[in-house]
Amino acid sequence: MIQSERAGRHDEIETFFRERFTTDNPLITEAVKRMLAAGGKRLRPRITLLAAQTHDADAERHMQLAAYMELIHVATLIHDDVVDNAQTRRGVNATAIDYGNRISVLAGDYLFAWIFKNVTQFYAPPIPNILSATLAEICDGEVLQLRALGDLNVSLKSYIDTAERKTASLFAASAQCGAIAGGAPPHAVEALRGFGLAYGIAFQMRDDLLDVTADAAALGKPVGNDLAERKMTIPLILALRSGSQEFRGMVERLYAGREPDVAAVIAGIRQSGAIEQTRAKIAEYARRAEDAIDGLENTAAKAELQRLAGELLEEAS
Ligand code: IPE
Ligand code: IPE
Ligand code: MG
Ligand code: MG
Repeated sequence: MIQSERAGRHDEIETFFRERFTTDNPLITEAVKRMLAAGGKRLRPRITLLAAQTHDADAERHMQLAAYMELIHVATLIHDDVVDNAQTRRGVNATAIDYGNRISVLAGDYLFAWIFKNVTQFYAPPIPNILSATLAEICDGEVLQLRALGDLNVSLKSYIDTAERKTASLFAASAQCGAIAGGAPPHAVEALRGFGLAYGIAFQMRDDLLDVTADAAALGKPVGNDLAERKMTIPLILALRSGSQEFRGMVERLYAGREPDVAAVIAGIRQSGAIEQTRAKIAEYARRAEDAIDGLENTAAKAELQRLAGELLEEAS
């Protein structure tokens, strides 16, 4: 049932983007719509709808809230590609490539403001409060990551803390707000938030892994970009732990800009066993996500959320 419903919900969210998202500024509207039209997995709105559906069968009522979650994500992506100097996103030029950094910053800001204007108008506390706190956390995570650029001594613990803020906080809020809107009792709201948080950490770890294992065309964004940007991603942190001194020296030279050989560092990460270790960590957090909602009443929506976590787990195993 959920399977066939999924396509319908997806269409409704897309219709909302097409028909309801418009601003007074044609350039900003065009830049945002272009990003929306380029695709994306729409994971955050899906999680919002599923979290709502664990307690309210009428998913229709929560479609708009789900759409706001995707729009928050899109605004963070527009800014993130400026911060990360990324060329492509969702298989097309990053917004900054077509519109420049200045319009991208303003378009992201405008989008945040537009979302919050609507959310505060249509949703009662604590939903607007959760969303504004989430936005602060995302920025905090992005800043933490920037400050750790090129620091080869970053610990796994601090990596996870950053991933939690920059990525998992929005997954957690998507699940939590969906649950609240669906009328879930407090223990279920907490469980669903816990699902989103663990899922989001696993998801960011997977994203880091794809930067060293995937194919750029299939991914729709550049590979090796994290290394080129001197980011401390989980495969790199684990490889530095178990890799050789020679490997460390190679990363030091790359990150000092003295020997820009990203391919050699990727090969070193592979050799160190860090790919398998990253997969084990992804599996650990995907399991935590499944466990977080284990106690909820069995519904098709709960099963679908567990299936989403199961997908990450399977891929990692
Ligand atoms: C990309 O998120 C940003 C990260 C948190 C890693 P997604 O991989 O969900 O991006 P889209 O929405 O599918 O483009
Ligand atoms: C994504 O971080 C987090 C946010 C969008 C705030 P990344 O920089 O790792 O994501 P990608 O690789 O650009 O999608
Ligand atoms: Mg980034
Ligand atoms: Mg990025």
